Amino acid sequence: MSRWHYLLNLSFWTGSAMFGHAQNVTFHADVAPIIYTHCAECHRVGEISPMPLTTFNEVSMYGEFIEYVTSTGYMPPWSPDNSYSHFVGERVLTTEEKATLSAWVAQGKPEGDPADNPGLPSFPEGSQIGSPDLVLSMAEPYTHGGDMTDQYQVFVLPADPNNDLSIRALEVRPGNRNVSHHAILGLDVTGTAASLDAQDPEPGYESFGGFGFSAESNFFGAWVPGALTLEYPPGIGRIVPAGSDVLLQMHYGPSPIEESDQTEINVFFSEEPIEREVETGIMGPQHLDEPFYLPANQLRTFQGSMQVAADVSLLSVAPHCHLIGSSWEVFATSPSNQDTIPLISIPSWDFNWQGFFTFPTLTKIPSGYTLHGIASYDNTSSNPFNPNDPPQNVTFGEGTTDEMFFVFFDYVLYQEGDELISLAPSDEPTCASDVNDDGVISVGDMLFLLSEFGCTSDCNADIDLDDAVTISDLLQLLSTYGATC
Ligand code: HEC
Repeated sequence: MSRWHYLLNLSFWTGSAMFGHAQNVTFHADVAPIIYTHCAECHRVGEISPMPLTTFNEVSMYGEFIEYVTSTGYMPPWSPDNSYSHFVGERVLTTEEKATLSAWVAQGKPEGDPADNPGLPSFPEGSQIGSPDLVLSMAEPYTHGGDMTDQYQVFVLPADPNNDLSIRALEVRPGNRNVSHHAILGLDVTGTAASLDAQDPEPGYESFGGFGFSAESNFFGAWVPGALTLEYPPGIGRIVPAGSDVLLQMHYGPSPIEESDQTEINVFFSEEPIEREVETGIMGPQHLDEPFYLPANQLRTFQGSMQVAADVSLLSVAPHCHLIGSSWEVFATSPSNQDTIPLISIPSWDFNWQGFFTFPTLTKIPSGYTLHGIASYDNTSSNPFNPNDPPQNVTFGEGTTDEMFFVFFDYVLYQEGDELISLAPSDEPTCASDVNDDGVISVGDMLFLLSEFGCTSDCNADIDLDDAVTISDLLQLLSTYGATC
């Protein structure tokens, strides 16, 4: 597709909010594109979701249920509030897409013409991003299931004994998607995890929530179904020191039959020297305004704050708590409180869908700002996830019935122009909007867009729906499409 076509499509696409959905809705023409884009990555054979949604019969059988789970926002699973901040790989349906699904159900779920079906996308096998330079694998398969329980098992994967590894991306490839619910990576430079493994007769060792000790990194990466692999921009990356161990904590979901898993981590080396090593800032219980304690049958909210001592650029944010946690809000404020930078809001915390949330571009937090993390906990019996029945007093700790308060911030020290560095997976459409061909999608391209599509009425590119196409629409475009090509 030429750049010009792409731009025109972009303008029509952004304008689609202005038109109602088609009156006659069919599966093949209208519903399949929505399901294939937003649901099939998990709802296909061999993935963890309970049923495939790939054919007319499958989707039509669940039609009313699909309307219900999409209208309530339960599916597709995406816990951050997308009116608060944006992330790479957001899984949200537009109002129009939800309306199309409802209209289809209301019209009796017509099938339509199979010729209109766009076909299932080709889902990547082996890797989303290329061939890995190194594959770290669980030493032996682990067997889980048969008793409908959850299991949290940590596997110790030795990295290179002699050389530091400069890393551009770490990609978790679950070995058995029927039981692999999510994974969290850590880094150990002390051998502690290996000795915990040696004490546990099973492959790996059991540990809920974290790694059972304070590792060098407790949040070195994460995987949930459908997650996109974060590739660091050139010159930015992670170093895995010689002789260290990468830790892989697998959450295995309930299964009626025994399943075997041998998960791998694809490691991609940085082609250029890493000039900017990704650091992780941690807000923890020591940053709270009061001691962390959750009395039985009570709701509690804790506020953490941390001063930012240098200009930094955030790559991602990951709030972490266990099963009693109920919501999170994380933001930064300027010294005089005149400026607030919203980072993430999770109105309804779900332990099962936690992960790293990657910003669309590097996000600057100036020196002198304060980071705030506010977490609420529901230690009553009306919290369906409460692990204690009846509720008990709960303290800070690693166990399933303990609680936690952590926010992990991945960052690099700020450099001018960071705001334009995209963290989205690079693909053709992103770079197609580099209209002035200077290798980056920046304000210049957006000014061109403005001159081409700017208007004050009947606007296709009026993304913020204020009836005018202005710089604020372009900033929104830039935050989505800004990239280094
Ligand atoms: C990231 C993976 C993922 C995506 C994307 C996803 N689902 Fe699901 N879905 C699941 C999992 C896992 C379950 C079972 C566990 C649960 O209910 O949370 C599920 C359950 C369901 C259920 C059954 C709910 C129940 O309680 O039994 C329906 C219906 C459903 N999904 C529809 C959809 C639709 C429609 C979409 C797209 C609009 C979608 N899902 C997208 C992973 C996903």
